[in-house]
Amino acid sequence: MNRITRMAAAFALAAAAFTPADVLAQAAPPKAVVTAASPDGSLVLTVTTDASDRPVWSLSRKGKLLIGASKLGFTLTDGLNLVRGFRITGSETASADSTWEQPWGERRFVRDHHNEVLVRFEQNADYAGRRMNVRFRLFDDGVGLRYELPEQPGLKTMKIADEWTEFNVAGAGTAWWIPGGEWNRYEQVYQKTPINAVSTAHTPITMRLDDGTHMAFHEAALVDYAGMWLKRADGGVFRSTLSPSSRGARVVRDLPFNTPWRTIRIADTAAGLVENDLELNLNEPNKLGDVSWFKPMKYIGIWWGMIRGDWSWAEGPNHGATTARTKQYIDFAAKNGFGGVLVEGWDKGWNGDWFGHGQDFSFTEAVPDFDLKAVTGYAAKKKVQLIGHNETGGNIANYEAQLEDAMKLYQSLGIHAVKTGYVADAGGIIAPGDAPGETRMEYHDGQRSVQHHLRVVETAAKYQVAINAHEPVKDTGLRRTYPNWIDREGARGMEYNAWGEFANGPDHEPTLVYTRMLSGPMDYTPGVLSLEGANKVPLASTLAKQLGLYLALYSPIQMAADFIENLAAHPRELEFIRQVPADWSESHLIAGEVGDYAIFARKDRSSEDWYVGGVNDATARDVSLAMDFLDAGKTYTATIWKDGEGATFETDARHKIAYATLTVKKGDKLPLWLAPGGGAAIRLRPAK
Ligand code: NOJ
Ligand code: CA
Repeated sequence: MNRITRMAAAFALAAAAFTPADVLAQAAPPKAVVTAASPDGSLVLTVTTDASDRPVWSLSRKGKLLIGASKLGFTLTDGLNLVRGFRITGSETASADSTWEQPWGERRFVRDHHNEVLVRFEQNADYAGRRMNVRFRLFDDGVGLRYELPEQPGLKTMKIADEWTEFNVAGAGTAWWIPGGEWNRYEQVYQKTPINAVSTAHTPITMRLDDGTHMAFHEAALVDYAGMWLKRADGGVFRSTLSPSSRGARVVRDLPFNTPWRTIRIADTAAGLVENDLELNLNEPNKLGDVSWFKPMKYIGIWWGMIRGDWSWAEGPNHGATTARTKQYIDFAAKNGFGGVLVEGWDKGWNGDWFGHGQDFSFTEAVPDFDLKAVTGYAAKKKVQLIGHNETGGNIANYEAQLEDAMKLYQSLGIHAVKTGYVADAGGIIAPGDAPGETRMEYHDGQRSVQHHLRVVETAAKYQVAINAHEPVKDTGLRRTYPNWIDREGARGMEYNAWGEFANGPDHEPTLVYTRMLSGPMDYTPGVLSLEGANKVPLASTLAKQLGLYLALYSPIQMAADFIENLAAHPRELEFIRQVPADWSESHLIAGEVGDYAIFARKDRSSEDWYVGGVNDATARDVSLAMDFLDAGKTYTATIWKDGEGATFETDARHKIAYATLTVKKGDKLPLWLAPGGGAAIRLRPAK
């Protein structure tokens, strides 16, 4: 059988095997039904119209219903709807199996193996015969769907009141999620609830059904559209709701256009959710070409001191970003193999209450005690990069006005990475309005903010600058198309640990792995080796867990967040941080469960070394790590940093760490004890 015949056979099989009751119940008058299957036939999609002529889709997996009949459509603010009165007028199928290469990432090569079907819908004469197409892409471990609105008479611009995409989850289970639309954006503690107790959630939202099926709902390629929240409508029925806009309509787009993809990762295990490239595969290929001017790296910064309140961003006696301190940090970076030094509070605008005064920030003018030229010149001599910082206070109108000049300046100073920031309450983004000088308030993930982030990334790319956005819009895989969009915050990061005892509880990071991290890299900023925030508040972490974070939470720029004195006080731990790569050729979750623990094995992109490690929640556990990932025929020296006997995050015993050196080979089992709030890190180097 050639590939096309095989595909046709798979589609036919799918159609025969799947006859959902809700489709049969609407048998008269006969409705068109379109079916398609994933390459291995395990996922089967059915698309039709229901008794009210609403487009509906459903999905089964291995013969069992996973997503029951779920509606599709839009309501528009100008009295129109794309919800009812539809019939299917045709469909087209295609398939692909290709492999593409990432310039940097958790893995070098990504396989894109899918079948797809485009379903054409048309409304009846009552609705002026409007047309709407929906494209479904079926992978063996997930599905994506997006609307494609073709050019048509009578509908030039869509003013979308809301999008009505349903996901009717068939089956009970547990969900891990954060609420959508809350004041502090994505920076929230994850909730673990029954699926039918979720309210309105940001994506990714992760679910484990009682039969063991794992799913994560998200979106891909969020461009010129509003971010999608998932709102539980009834039981297990979730519906999209778009982030609001100051203009009433949540999205305004001229036709033709495509929406972002709505995605579901689907797997039997937690590892299947993590080792899954669904959203990357649904994004467009690299538009920037060669981005080798950005090198994955580890960095330190003049940062933790401000977050803890020891230093200030503002000028004054405790100003953090002085020329002298920056040179001291550059020296430390050069000596200890860090590629970059982040400096916050270098620019004008921080004096006074900067929260809510974003209009005061300059992105080109330094304060008097920070000599930008001298510092960047010193960094270049020491072969270290300065990482720029642009806190906007959410005022994107002010930032956009300076963007081009700022990026041009940074390039001229040899700065190739900039951290941006949008500190403001949800709905507190100040964006340019329609008239000169007019401003509007927008959400961090509304259409206007989404446009803004891409504008920053595209402008930065022109000047060979990479962007790490804090208080960002969520990641939807756009790093594939714009590989200078290297990183984001977009969750509760290390900073919260400076502000309260156990502020990020012991299960926070083992939950991030299976939720936030599914969307892409995170600038979590590990490496607080003192295990202390402001006023000595302890972290819910052992010392070994701080090292395990470098394996658990992927980022192509990994910070060692603590003061340099605290890093220097832990030479053996610093040695690990110095060696651990920030760029990988392979990554595998070798042990873990959602919210409980996560141990990764990752292979260095530029050597034969493997690294293993990760994080644990509050429950002590013994794990047996299968060394099956190692390359056959080699013997490795394993250098281990692990929780010391009696270590626990709850007491001063959090500082207890133990070291070991062993010889291992493929197929061996490595026993490891993980403390409450613990973790581990292991370097595996082929023995000479
Ligand atoms: C919040 C960011 O997450 C943090 O990293 C930064 O230092 C402050 N905003 C100030 O920009
Ligand atoms: Ca933040």
